[in-house]
Amino acid sequence: MKFQVITLFPEIIQAATSVGVVHQGIKKGLLEVETFQPREVTTDAHRSVDDRPFGGGDGMIFLPEVLEKILDKTREKGPSRVIYLSPQGPTLTDQKLRELASSGETLTLLCGRYGGVDQRALNELIDEELSIGDYVLSGGELAALVVIDGVARQIPGVLGHEASAKEDSFAQGLLEQPHFTRPREWRGQVVPEVLLSGDHGRIQAWKTQMSLLTTLKKRPDLLRALPEGFKASELKKFWQNLSPSEKAACGLEGLQESDFDLTRR
Ligand code: ADE
Repeated sequence: MKFQVITLFPEIIQAATSVGVVHQGIKKGLLEVETFQPREVTTDAHRSVDDRPFGGGDGMIFLPEVLEKILDKTREKGPSRVIYLSPQGPTLTDQKLRELASSGETLTLLCGRYGGVDQRALNELIDEELSIGDYVLSGGELAALVVIDGVARQIPGVLGHEASAKEDSFAQGLLEQPHFTRPREWRGQVVPEVLLSGDHGRIQAWKTQMSLLTTLKKRPDLLRALPEGFKASELKKFWQNLSPSEKAACGLEGLQESDFDLTRR
């Protein structure tokens, strides 16, 4: 999978992709991240990439000709899907990341800066816009890195454990169950007994119920599209049978009987 990042600050992209999972993917030959510096296609002495907005206002606007020329540079390497990172795009989701990963297309990520990009250039040269959330960052670089990281970990072989990305929160539309490691007791909190039982059937059932309870507590909005076969009464029974200390150890304090009445929400 190839990523091309158009940015005035290639150092940000290079630094963040030279460590961790993305770096491992690059080393394994599964990922490629190339940066493109728009200043390199400018012709004036100041290497200008932007200008003041017509009609006045704050910020500088990315010049359409510069965008056109730098996109020509990326196209020398072959066709690609051009994505503009901007708070105006649809919000990135786990499903979108998986769609981008399975498309196999080269992704050209355009990082805006300053006031924005000339609208005519967006109309002509961009395939889609993507936001990483309803807040404004000072540039698209961090958003591009979110896309790269999120897509990369969906590419088979990039994560050490093949199953990991599938088991992640959101992969099944739910949050993950709590996790525990050694020691068995820490600050008076005890690892749930079932996890030490070696009974894989019981452990799997516990994980499923705990995943549902965690979602109910932290992100009840995700349970609006209820998983197939989901029964709130069964989940409530499972929760009622947990001891107070197990509820606390699993981060479920504060969950109440009324939270299980999903028809109310
Ligand atoms: N650039 C600035 N803010 C952004 C956001 N929220 N998402 C994507 N790109 C951005």
